[in-house]
Amino acid sequence: MNDAAKGRSVTLHLVSSLDGFIAKKDNSISWLECTGSVYEAGVSVSEEEAAAFLKTIDCYVLGSRTYEHALELGWPYGDTPVVVVTRRQLPPEKKSVEFYSGDLRTLVDVKLAPRYRNIWLVGGAMLCQRFLELGLVDEIQLTIAPVLLGEGLRLFGGSLTEQRWNLKNVVAYKNGFVELSYSAPAA
Ligand SMILES: NC(=O)c1ccc[n+]([C@@H]2O[C@H](COP(=O)([O-])OP(=O)(O)OC[C@H]3O[C@@H](n4cnc5c(N)ncnc54)[C@H](OP(=O)(O)O)[C@@H]3O)[C@@H](O)[C@H]2O)c1
Repeated sequence: MNDAAKGRSVTLHLVSSLDGFIAKKDNSISWLECTGSVYEAGVSVSEEEAAAFLKTIDCYVLGSRTYEHALELGWPYGDTPVVVVTRRQLPPEKKSVEFYSGDLRTLVDVKLAPRYRNIWLVGGAMLCQRFLELGLVDEIQLTIAPVLLGEGLRLFGGSLTEQRWNLKNVVAYKNGFVELSYSAPAA
């Protein structure tokens, strides 16, 4: 079934290092900052364009560790609804956040799809891997940062089986980051 027929789309978005890590062992994030070196042929995005794009996202889905890290760092999701997947009882910190525990297919098809069209799954590795294993991801948007980390949390470190995705778009930015967009193979 295609996305239009399903009425919703789940986009998995992560930023990875060149060597396939999404977080450092100490959780520091300076590797995600720009160094000032410029890739001349790249594009840049204005703050207005970035804000307009973020407005198109109807809902974010996060694993609990990503949620806790986001609270520590400074909340990047504004007032957009956020669903945090956890088996723990976490204290409510924000009005825009709901917690979910249970079957992930039910989460997408029963809880989210009737309310949201453009659903963004933004980490971490554990939750994204589970979504991929269950075939719940329609698009992967992977941003590659121009840095080798050597060690850390692996992007998709586990037990995925071979599956060919369709490249839809490539954007290279002036800051050296490259965004790769793929759609899922037809079911
Ligand atoms: N570079 C990037 O783009 C990016 C993006 C996002 C996050 N990160 C980084 O990634 C790290 C966190 O990733 P992570 O893989 O360790 O953790 P995670 O995926 O954010 O969270 C894992 C937690 O989510 C809950 N969970 C996952 N699957 C579940 C399921 N099927 N049912 C119920 N609960 C489930 C569990 O929570 P409970 O233990 O509470 O039950 C589990 O411990 C952080 O360092 C974060 O900063 C990087």
